[in-house]
Amino acid sequence: MSLNVTFRQLRVFESVAHHSSFTRAAEELHLTQPAVSMQIKQLEESLGLALFDHLGKKIFLTDAGSEFFKTSRSISRQLSEAEEFIEEIKGIHQGHLNIVVASTANSFATNLLATFIQRHPEITFSLDVTNRQRLLESLSANEPDLVIMGQPPEKLDVVAEAFMENPLVIVVGKNHSLFRKEISFTPEKIQKERFVVREQGSGTRTAMERFFEERGLQLETRMEFGSNEAIKQAVQAGLGLAMVSIHTIQLELEAKVLRVLEVKDLPIQRQWHLVYRKGKRLSPVAESFRQFVLDEGSSLVSEVR
Ligand code: PGA
Repeated sequence: MSLNVTFRQLRVFESVAHHSSFTRAAEELHLTQPAVSMQIKQLEESLGLALFDHLGKKIFLTDAGSEFFKTSRSISRQLSEAEEFIEEIKGIHQGHLNIVVASTANSFATNLLATFIQRHPEITFSLDVTNRQRLLESLSANEPDLVIMGQPPEKLDVVAEAFMENPLVIVVGKNHSLFRKEISFTPEKIQKERFVVREQGSGTRTAMERFFEERGLQLETRMEFGSNEAIKQAVQAGLGLAMVSIHTIQLELEAKVLRVLEVKDLPIQRQWHLVYRKGKRLSPVAESFRQFVLDEGSSLVSEVR
């Protein structure tokens, strides 16, 4: 049997069935009432069945009409899912992605974005690299699509999804006396050394301070630098030791200008998180980037190392 039913007829039928009224369906669909009656008549002829009983001024679905109503609704649902899916594909190809990352995450975020953009060359993006304070401000204003950060904020209502480990280690530069000594340290022994540290508000710095405080220790000498680049320069120049994320020092380790010191209880095992405000409706591009980072982020970053 081949049915000659149109989507337009289904839509009119659903509206009439829903309202139990030709008049109300006509209003809803911005049609005249005879146009609605005509669509239903044609549909009934195609099916070879009456869909409505007319009792006085009222109309009721027949048994066949009730069954057909279920089928029709299921077709409409599938159609609207297909529409959403098509919009989503269009969206991914044309959208804009607004990402904010903690400064340490910049060491791998650019590589992740580059791979994502290769797959979706039409999308545009902005990447803001900033400290934790500014990052929390923009999260609280719900500005970015997604944030990549270490410790998710406790005071904001956010969704935070861990996607990769972020080990923190202590490094020494080639101009430092400890560079060539194969010694294992305890936290007590290493805290006597001179350290260069990140600025207040840095997630790395907070984790480092917590590590020593938990052991009743406090670092003595402090020289403060506002970025990982500056920290690495200072350590290479022999100004002191530093605690950094392993993700920031791959090139320096390969070039053998920095070395990771062996210290008991290190590395500190932290996680990188994808974060966004709870209840935020992610755009198709943002949702696709989120999936990409969760599924492939960790393995792509290890390859870059
Ligand atoms: P950073 O890193 O703030 O030290 O750059 C982010 C984090 O580790 O939380």
